[in-house]
Amino acid sequence: MEILKKYNSVLQDSLADAIAIEEPHQLYDPIKYILALGGKRIRPALTLMTCDFFGKDFKTAINAALAIELFHNFSLIHDDIMDNAPIRRGKKTVHEKWDVNTAILSGDAMLILAYQFFENYEPKIFQELARLFSRTALQVCEGQQHDMDFETRDNVTMTEYIHMIDHKTAVLLGAAMKMGAIVAEARDIDKNKIYEFGRNLGIAFQLQDDYLDVFGNPETFGKQVGGDIISNKKTILYLMAIQKGTVAEAEELEHLFSINPKNPEDKIATVREIFLSSGAAQATRTEIEKYSVKAFALLQEIDITEERKTMFRNFGNSLMQRNV
Ligand code: IPE
Ligand code: IPE
Ligand code: MG
Ligand code: MG
Ligand code: MG
Repeated sequence: MEILKKYNSVLQDSLADAIAIEEPHQLYDPIKYILALGGKRIRPALTLMTCDFFGKDFKTAINAALAIELFHNFSLIHDDIMDNAPIRRGKKTVHEKWDVNTAILSGDAMLILAYQFFENYEPKIFQELARLFSRTALQVCEGQQHDMDFETRDNVTMTEYIHMIDHKTAVLLGAAMKMGAIVAEARDIDKNKIYEFGRNLGIAFQLQDDYLDVFGNPETFGKQVGGDIISNKKTILYLMAIQKGTVAEAEELEHLFSINPKNPEDKIATVREIFLSSGAAQATRTEIEKYSVKAFALLQEIDITEERKTMFRNFGNSLMQRNV
């Protein structure tokens, strides 16, 4: 993303040097592998950008940014085991390239490495970062558990779904930004507002992720398109289709989301059709817009220049329009 370029080049170098340990290879190779695959690096860039916008040299936030990206990549390795995902960032997932045991332990090591980056801060900042990080990481686990539970439930509500994605995804975007504000020693009120901004943007971000899981271009998406349908994930598209579709559409969906066919191609194609014909796809676009607008409104109350608010807004808009 264009706006993040300035931060990404610094991140690129730091991430390359972040994991210097070699042995045992079976533990550290998967960590280097997943980090080298890159990804958008939105969260660490947000940490740096927020620190910058609150008036401190953004390089002082590099350790917090690395912690966030290590944690995010750890969560992806374990998420791919849980979701049975074959592809990540256009390449084999860690548990497919190596095996599940390797993916578990390399993931664990990444979580610990993430915490170690905070040791570079003086006690007051360290404590504030570690406290936020621990709370956030626990919320991510809670969100992930709800996500799993929903696969086998057929009565998930929209409120439950939003709560689930808030925890598994949105709070980490909020925390990424708040960490930048903590390092910059911003006012408490601004730290909390930037957290809520990031969190609402994070909800829009996960809604877009769910949308792309169904409608993304398999050539460029980097993940298995249709993966959520295969796993019977009760995403916004499913919930909207049940709400807005005809009785026949709802019944067919409920049936399709209770089976696990060996060859899922027909199931994916039918579900995609129903998501379109029921108006669920359009309704999802509207919700993405709604949470972005909510985030932008929060931005108004924060004590930064108009120019910087515009940059945050541009970033939010580019997230909404992304196709990877
Ligand atoms: C994927 O996150 C997991 C979600 C929370 C949707 P990203 O879409 O940020 O993944 P990368 O890091 O760019 O690959
Ligand atoms: C990911 O949600 C949330 C976390 C990794 C904590 P998804 O399961 O939708 O993410 P992708 O689509 O695999 O990246
Ligand atoms: Mg997944
Ligand atoms: Mg998942
Ligand atoms: Mg997804």
